[in-house]
Amino acid sequence: MLGRLNHVAIAVRNMDSAVEVYRTTLGGRTSEKVAQPAHGVSTVFVTLPNTKIELLEPLGDNSPIAKFLERNPDGGIHHICYEVEDILAARDKLAAQGARVLGDGQPKIGAHGKPVLFLHPKDFCGTLVELEQA
Ligand code: CO
Repeated sequence: MLGRLNHVAIAVRNMDSAVEVYRTTLGGRTSEKVAQPAHGVSTVFVTLPNTKIELLEPLGDNSPIAKFLERNPDGGIHHICYEVEDILAARDKLAAQGARVLGDGQPKIGAHGKPVLFLHPKDFCGTLVELEQA
């Protein structure tokens, strides 16, 4: 079921300082900042030769990363995203094995314009997992 590692997401309080770290200190290639109102975050992608880093900054009052940043005031790794060939088949197979799919279980369109789903961290070794249609 698991395909490529699409990205590792890092929640940050301040996108400008995070971009400074990734672009200037680490010499990474960073995208423009894009608001994702449907997800309550703004994103910047850092493109690496073999994967991407997704920097996430809260957007709006009910951002899903607000609580995470309360617990991790310096920011931190928020989720990892794996590609799957068929997101609905993956969802059904995981649900049949007792895994919890977050939200209403219907894929949303993610930051790359492809369907995504999130899986409960308690079912996946304490890590929030995003699945993205390859
Ligand atoms: Co993501």
